[in-house]
Amino acid sequence: MIQLTNVYCSYDEDDALSQLDLSIAPGEAVAVIGPNGCGKSTLLKLLNGIILAKTGQYRFDGEEVSPKTLKNPIFAKRFHQRVGFLFQNSNAQIFTTSVYDEIAFGPRQMSLSEEDIAKRVEDCLQLLGIDNLRTRVPYHLSEGEKRKVALASVLALNPEVLVLDEPTNGLDPRMKDFLGEVLLSLNKAGKTIICSTHDFHYLPGVFGTALVLGGDHHIARRGSYQELIDDKAFLRSQNII
Ligand SMILES: Nc1ncnc2c1ncn2[C@@H]1O[C@H](COP(=O)(O)OP(=O)(O)OP(=O)(O)O)[C@@H](O)[C@H]1O
Ligand SMILES: [Mg+2]
Repeated sequence: MIQLTNVYCSYDEDDALSQLDLSIAPGEAVAVIGPNGCGKSTLLKLLNGIILAKTGQYRFDGEEVSPKTLKNPIFAKRFHQRVGFLFQNSNAQIFTTSVYDEIAFGPRQMSLSEEDIAKRVEDCLQLLGIDNLRTRVPYHLSEGEKRKVALASVLALNPEVLVLDEPTNGLDPRMKDFLGEVLLSLNKAGKTIICSTHDFHYLPGVFGTALVLGGDHHIARRGSYQELIDDKAFLRSQNII
């Protein structure tokens, strides 16, 4: 479903991702792990088309994701409907004046009826236990509340692929545990999940695969999540623990 070939990304002169070859199959649940600054957010933004590779190729479901294809409004709309993205910083995600409108924004772009939109918003409010926030101004919410609203706005699009940048950030321990259960059930329902996190112990059983990015912005390892989490010597060598 996702195929990156020899991708290189940089900001000005600084490397952010180097020589990245990666394929992710439909239904996979991948944890993206690595120390601060290794390129996790860059990779996830690349997968969502927010930033583009300087060199190399990104194919999604066989089609190239490039400046040219993203300029095609039909391709871009369909792509963003299929791939949902949760920003590491919720303030980068929220922009409307009510929680309801924030969650309804994506479904409205999909030209659903107001009745279907209301149902989706309601389902997401209930799922994340934030129905009491529906009339609040998103910018006035606490960081954890903003996080839940941002996540609800991603889920409201019902994307096939969920790209989540540190989704547990700002959540209290109980909500982190709950988020683990939500991700597990979404993956069981067939969603592909690609998620950066430092919160391994809150998300047991969610991930089948782990991708470790090293401080040199290369892939240090890709393999079984459980084996990797158990390999403390390797995690220490990569400055992860
Ligand atoms: N907008 C930007 N302009 C310049 N450099 C950037 C920008 N965004 C990221 N970088 C640099 O690119 C590298 C990768 O950053 P990225 O945000 O992808 O790391 P990360 O692995 O997500 O880190 P963290 O764990 O802190 O979230 C870092 O060296 C960072 O300083
Ligand atoms: Mg990051």
